[in-house]
This record gives sequence, C-alpha cells and structure tokens, in this order.
Amino acid sequence: MLSVDDIHVYYGESYVLQGVSLHVNQGEIVCLLGRNGAGKTTTMRSIIGYNPPRKGQITLDDRVISGRPVYENVRQGIGFVPEDRRIFPLLTVEENIEVALLPPREGFTPWTSERIFDEFPLLARLRTRLGGELSGGEQQVLAIARALAGNPRFLLLDEPCEGLAPVIVEMLGEIITNLSKEITILVAEQNARFALKISSRGYVIDKGKVCYEGTSRELVENDDIQCRYLAV
Ligand SMILES: Nc1ncnc2c1ncn2[C@@H]1O[C@H](COP(=O)(O)OP(=O)(O)OP(=O)(O)O)[C@@H](O)[C@H]1O
Ligand SMILES: [Mg+2]
Repeated sequence: MLSVDDIHVYYGESYVLQGVSLHVNQGEIVCLLGRNGAGKTTTMRSIIGYNPPRKGQITLDDRVISGRPVYENVRQGIGFVPEDRRIFPLLTVEENIEVALLPPREGFTPWTSERIFDEFPLLARLRTRLGGELSGGEQQVLAIARALAGNPRFLLLDEPCEGLAPVIVEMLGEIITNLSKEITILVAEQNARFALKISSRGYVIDKGKVCYEGTSRELVENDDIQCRYLAV
C-alpha cells in the first residue's frame, strides 16, 4: 500500500535520511524503531509531506505522493498523528474533531463525530472540555481521533506512547490494534516492547539508515539488535 523507496532527506545542509526504504502492506501494523534522533520523525514527516525527499520516491497505492502538499496527501487518505500531538488548546474536544472532518471514503465505515464519541467513551465524557485542559493520555487519544476524522485509509502514528503511564500505553495498544482491522498503520516508537507487541513487522533505523528489518518476532528474538539499537 505504502512504499518508501530510497529517500534522502535534508534539513538545510544537514543530511538526515540517507536512503531509507520501507513498505507497508494493506492491513498491516508495521513499526519503525530506533533511538533518539535516529530519523523516525523525519521519515514520518517525509511521508505526510512536511519534509519531502530530495531524492527517492514515496508511493501510496502506486500513486506518487512525494513532493505533494500535506493537505493533498491527507485528502488522498493519509492520517498523521504527530509526536507532539498538536491539539488545539483553545478548542473543545468536540471542536478539535470537527475541524478535521473530511468526507467518508468509499468502502470504509465513515468516521463521524458520533462514531468517534461512540468508540472513544473517554472523549465523549470530555466533549466540552478545552484541548489544553486534557492530560497527556487524553490528548493522545484525541490526536488519534482527530486523525480518524479525516477518514484515512493509512495512518502514521509518531511515538504514541511517549511520556505516558503504562496503563494508558496499554489502552493505546488496544485502540491501535482495533483500528488496524480497518486502517493500515505505520507506528514509530522508541518503546520497542510496545511496538513489537502490536505490529507484525518492523524496521530499525539508525543514523538515517534502515539497519534491520524483519518480523516482529524476529526482532524480539534478536538480542544483538535489541541491545545495539533498541535498549534504552
Ligand atoms: N528541524 C530540524 N532541523 C535540523 N535537524 C533536525 C531537525 N529535526 C530533527 N533534526 C535532526 O535529524 C535527526 C533525526 O531526527 P528525528 O527527529 O527524525 O529523530 P527521531 O528518531 O524521531 O528521534 P526521537 O526518538 O527523539 O523522536 C537528528 O539528528 C535530529 O537532530
Ligand atoms: Mg521523533
């Protein structure tokens, strides 16, 4: 479904992604693992369109999306949940969702405000609360819900667990697993234990290059990779 082919990405003169390739098949949850500064966020931002590759190509269902503006990629069906969540602090929970609503997609059960509140009772209880008043975990759930409001068929989740308590992380794991029944997902994480539990395959990135790829089971069982690139 998504194919990233040998992308080279810079911040100014700084050469950050040095030929990253990965793919995600329809229906999969794939994880992108790596330590601090490895290039996970840059890869996600490159896919959605904030940091287009200088070289290389990204396709969604065989359609080239690299070089296109973010809003067009969102309209094509990519949802993006950024690392820092970017909740609108002065809008209510309901308004945060409403501003992101896009028409339903053929062949998918539509995400409407009502469906979101049905499926996320936590948010229903907070419906009129301001975004800025939510806890980190509540903001993360809202950030996911807001991405769903765009009716994506492919979802990018950048470090959903960061800074959250174990009980919230567990809840997010359930949410993401459930979503994968209808949406294909790429999740970037430093928390390898979490990511490998919910994904079927994974890539390890280090210094802007993919240094390992395999099934999640292979990654769990690979002590060398675990200690070199994933141990915190
Ligand atoms: N806006 C920027 N300008 C210049 N360099 C940047 C910028 N953002 C990130 N970098 C650099 O690019 C490299 C990759 O960063 P990136 O944020 O993609 O890593 P990451 O794997 O997401 O890390 P983390 O786990 O901390 O989120 C790092 O060396 C970082 O310092
Ligand atoms: Mg990051």
